[in-house]
Amino acid sequence: MTNNAWNESHVGTYSQYDNSELDVIHPVILRMVGEIKDRKVADYGCGEGKLVQELVEREAEVFGYDLSDSMISEAKKRIKDKAALKKIKSGVIPLPNNTLDAVVSNLVLMMCDSVEHIREIHQEINRVLKPGGILAYCITHPAFTDKTFTTYRNIFIGNRDYFQTAQQYQFVLRRKDGTEVTDESFLDYHYSLSTYLNLSPENGFNFRELCEVSVPGNSLPPYIVVKSTKAGF
Ligand SMILES: C[S@@+](CC[C@H](N)C(=O)[O-])C[C@H]1O[C@@H](n2cnc3c(N)ncnc32)[C@H](O)[C@@H]1O
Repeated sequence: MTNNAWNESHVGTYSQYDNSELDVIHPVILRMVGEIKDRKVADYGCGEGKLVQELVEREAEVFGYDLSDSMISEAKKRIKDKAALKKIKSGVIPLPNNTLDAVVSNLVLMMCDSVEHIREIHQEINRVLKPGGILAYCITHPAFTDKTFTTYRNIFIGNRDYFQTAQQYQFVLRRKDGTEVTDESFLDYHYSLSTYLNLSPENGFNFRELCEVSVPGNSLPPYIVVKSTKAGF
């Protein structure tokens, strides 16, 4: 499996940004996974563990994975021993097949540098989900990846071809006071909506729902959340 390195220095920088949109995204993801009390749920790319915390509060048995040591350390400060938090190595989720009832993933897939990488993540998540298990992931809205939003803006160099996959672009985050957190190594990759959605049936999922997430202050929806279930139920 390929691994897109997350620059460890991002941790401090990332934590400065205005993440108020999580208050809008998390309820959509949590609605999609439904009742999770006593269910096994993993957060893929858990970062500092904000969504992990909400899963723990809903009394799920929670697992959190991230490829950054620093992010896992931050998450452990927040969550203590209330969830099993681990660095992910070589893209392998350290769980047996058919273990989880649900996997959530917030703002991770558009960091992948190739369609193949996103495919591998789908396959690995599919492996550890039980049949019928739910995958709910949020990404920045791929139709609007060259737009400015209230909490971030994207910088495309040159003209964007919507259908060209893995175009790299810089994203600039905003603090609550409106000033920008700029880091040239903050990079995401553009994929069309169909590229993302077709990965579900191609990798053993049944597509269930697409939610375009509106955030107050933006005329366009900055995010989408996609729900699929593992086929074979
Ligand atoms: C933009 S942050 C989002 C963090 C968290 N999900 C949140 O909503 O606050 C992206 C996170 O995904 C992690 N990440 C990026 N690519 C990954 C991959 N291929 N596998 C696991 N984690 C990854 C990064 O280390 C980082 O913590």
